[in-house]
Amino acid sequence: MVSGGGTNLQAILDQIESGRLPGCQVVTVISSRPGVYALERARKHNIPSCVISKKDFETLEEYDEAVLKHLKEYKVQLVVLAGFLSLLGERVLSEYENAIINIHPSLIPSFCGKGFYGIIPHKKALEYGVRVTGATVHFVDREYDSGPIILQKAVEVMQDDTPESLQQRVMEQAEWVLLPEAIRLFAQGRLKVEGRHVTILGESAQRKEDEG
Ligand code: GRF
Repeated sequence: MVSGGGTNLQAILDQIESGRLPGCQVVTVISSRPGVYALERARKHNIPSCVISKKDFETLEEYDEAVLKHLKEYKVQLVVLAGFLSLLGERVLSEYENAIINIHPSLIPSFCGKGFYGIIPHKKALEYGVRVTGATVHFVDREYDSGPIILQKAVEVMQDDTPESLQQRVMEQAEWVLLPEAIRLFAQGRLKVEGRHVTILGESAQRKEDEG
């Protein structure tokens, strides 16, 4: 699910093409608004896409139903919020409990929550004067940026950083690495969620679990 330029979507597509996400496929792309470059990236990869905008529906419930219908139609198993800026509805959240992941451009719980999207977390990080920021991939729950954390990656803040230069480095060094990695772990069944905590099952632990 996208809302903008789709660089995170592109990172996923690139890793699939290079064989680093075995068993994974982007079956559809849902954009929260028309005309975004993420839709162009989907088109170039012949991926069926659609625009489902909250403002086109009378109620959140109708929006929620439309998203759920589309996800079911394409037999989606994992919902990936890749630069997606809307809150999901109750039905989607419960049907896909612990099967929706989001990439956020900060080390949650810093610089996150309602209104912290796009360039804003980087502006706030520079204003605060942190030496390190980064990105977080987490399971999505009913609030913004608050579900169980899966992966985080730190990125150094440089003295001469602007919000734009910091955003670019966080995307390159953290977001575009973490999101495909989280998808890989999910596809391998190695993410175990207990309450707020996510355990990443190692290869050996996974075999032990399989052998029962
Ligand atoms: C980026 O700022 C990214 O940090 C956040 O959403 C914005 C757009 O991402 N996740 P994308 O280029 O549309 O993937």
